[in-house]
Amino acid sequence: MADTLPTTGPLRHFLQFKDFSKQEIQYILERARLIKTKFKQYKPHHTLHDRTLAMIFEKASTRTRVSFEAGMYQLGGEVIHITASDSQLGRSEPIEDTARVISRMVDIVMIRTFEQSRIERFAAHSRVPVINGLTNEYHPCQILADIFTFIEHHGSIEGKTVAWIGDGNNMSYTWVQAAEILGFKVNFSAPSGYGLDPVHTGNPGSNVLEVFSDPLKACEGAHLITTDVWTSMGFEEENEQRKKDFSNWKVTSQMMSAAQPNALFMHCLPAHRGEEVDADVIDGPQSVVWDEAENRLHVQKALMEFLLLGPQ
Ligand code: CP
Ligand code: NVA
Repeated sequence: MADTLPTTGPLRHFLQFKDFSKQEIQYILERARLIKTKFKQYKPHHTLHDRTLAMIFEKASTRTRVSFEAGMYQLGGEVIHITASDSQLGRSEPIEDTARVISRMVDIVMIRTFEQSRIERFAAHSRVPVINGLTNEYHPCQILADIFTFIEHHGSIEGKTVAWIGDGNNMSYTWVQAAEILGFKVNFSAPSGYGLDPVHTGNPGSNVLEVFSDPLKACEGAHLITTDVWTSMGFEEENEQRKKDFSNWKVTSQMMSAAQPNALFMHCLPAHRGEEVDADVIDGPQSVVWDEAENRLHVQKALMEFLLLGPQ
């Protein structure tokens, strides 16, 4: 009986950026704008009254935890926070069994974990929508917030160029997916051996992805320069080697000068000043990193609403 229980609408997940169409992304971004405006005016927006979000963290977090938790409370709902160490996940309970159990008790689930296959296995056994709060391969909520932030500052991202300086990681794969869906370009530059795996990018055309060996060249004419930590969570044992390999992949004021005069700088945070970005860039006038962080709250509220209620 359990597995045939009808849902109120087709069950949707947000496991990677391409799970949504261009129209759906545009809807969520528009809705986030309304939700943000109401938030700034202290107007209640309790569209998810009595709904419960379970957040499962198998890696550390500051922004993702606070934005989902605060966001769900602001929508009138409740939140349960679970980590591997304080749940049976840390004692090898299968992810499929965890999904079956948790999704009978809550309305929506957010997971931060390791392999994408792990969140896919959870979603395949969940009765409720599942959101990717970061995996080794993707970070779709962050890119939703970043694109919202770009639009707030510079209008449509369509036809624009985003320069990625650094690791071929979850953030850069998600930028490439977003570029294909929304029609912008990614100039990608990483040290040799840290590039993008076609398993995760497919074969995007040169109007979507162009790879540069020289990070400065990648920044030329860009509307946005963005980077991320040299060592992502789960890869800590590579840290010392990566510090050597990535030393030229640091965003500097020279790189910012090579971009468009009003180019933005973004970083999903946490950042390491003096490693992947110089302090005068991240703390400089073109940096919008604090807006990016705040906008996680607004876009994720719109995302949870969309997954549970559909377009309003
Ligand atoms: N950018 C981001 O996801 O931050 P946290 O790791 O703090 O959640
Ligand atoms: N690429 C980083 C992003 C942190 C928000 C990581 O996975 O650790």
